[in-house]
Amino acid sequence: MARAVRSVVREFGPAAEVVRTERYEPAAPGPGQVAVRMLLAGVNPSDLVTISGAYASRTDLPFVPGYEGVGVVEATGTGVTGLRAGLRVLPLGSAGAWQQTKVTAARWCFPVDPALTDEEAATAYINPLTALLMVRRHTIATGARTVVINAAASAIGQILIRMLNKEGISPIALVRRRRSLDRLPGDGLTAAVCTEDRPAADAVREITRGRGPDVVLDAVGGTEGTELGRALADGGTLVHYGLLSGRPLSWELAQDRPDARIVLFRLRDWVHAAPPDRLTAALTEVFALVREGTAASPVASTHPLSHVREALERDAEPGRRGKVLIRLDS
Ligand SMILES: NC(=O)c1ccc[n+]([C@@H]2O[C@H](COP(=O)([O-])OP(=O)(O)OC[C@H]3O[C@@H](n4cnc5c(N)ncnc54)[C@H](OP(=O)(O)O)[C@@H]3O)[C@@H](O)[C@H]2O)c1
Repeated sequence: MARAVRSVVREFGPAAEVVRTERYEPAAPGPGQVAVRMLLAGVNPSDLVTISGAYASRTDLPFVPGYEGVGVVEATGTGVTGLRAGLRVLPLGSAGAWQQTKVTAARWCFPVDPALTDEEAATAYINPLTALLMVRRHTIATGARTVVINAAASAIGQILIRMLNKEGISPIALVRRRRSLDRLPGDGLTAAVCTEDRPAADAVREITRGRGPDVVLDAVGGTEGTELGRALADGGTLVHYGLLSGRPLSWELAQDRPDARIVLFRLRDWVHAAPPDRLTAALTEVFALVREGTAASPVASTHPLSHVREALERDAEPGRRGKVLIRLDS
């Protein structure tokens, strides 16, 4: 019988309904490739969106999901230098973390800081690096002082708050339900607002005394993201990096606010364009931020791969506190 188990998606749809597990025989690594025995993988919104079929035109079926996870190099193909069996790595740049052995290009495997636990390593890439790049390029570099974060109780929202606090900025945090307010820190915020109580843009205008924020870090899109963009200070920046509402920003925003910068941020674009040494340097930086807690994420629950659907149902629960992980070595 084939010796390994993997998740597989053969039809697009809600993750908890369409993700299955199957046995398979991992291929031997070819030239320039390594086989990585996966230990732990995270469940992220980008996995769920891909499984849903939102990117159907650029996703071939069947596929093994999972853009983030940590594993150990098991075998190397010919011509591989710098990686050896036993080294703990993050295999990046492609899906496939939700399987026991991922065979992938050696150049996409990055050694992990030995000081990180497997749980820290499994959540040390997507949200920490996205947050670092957005804070650096679109907040610090622009001299922003007033920053709004929506979906602020999300894993990345909490990292953004701590990163901004390190830079001396106390952001305005928005959450969609009152219960989520208690997942926000007690200090380091200019204000914490529940958008159930009042529209986000009205609250932000009032808190900024009509001036508007310099930067909005928007993970919601739709009406909320669009209205926050309209509320920006003169020459402000809206960084749109998530679509939690399932709806895009209105195309009228750019017309209504020609002075504003509207930036679409996608980690995937940066990672695939960055020279490898730049990516290595950025990962070294985020590993340190995870280690000190600034970019760390709490873990809500861990599930064996054989119970992947249970993991996906847990992930869909509202008000979840932290990331859901899939254990691959059990
Ligand atoms: N562009 C990129 O490269 C990139 C990289 C990393 C993350 N992201 C995006 O960042 C977002 C958050 O990711 P994550 O891993 O931090 O997620 P997460 O920890 O799973 O948290 C999701 C959060 O979103 C909130 N939420 C869901 N729907 C919402 C809505 N319609 N309005 C307001 N809040 C809503 C939930 O609030 P409740 O708890 O109150 O239900 C929850 O706090 C996702 O959209 C993800 O795709 C993008």
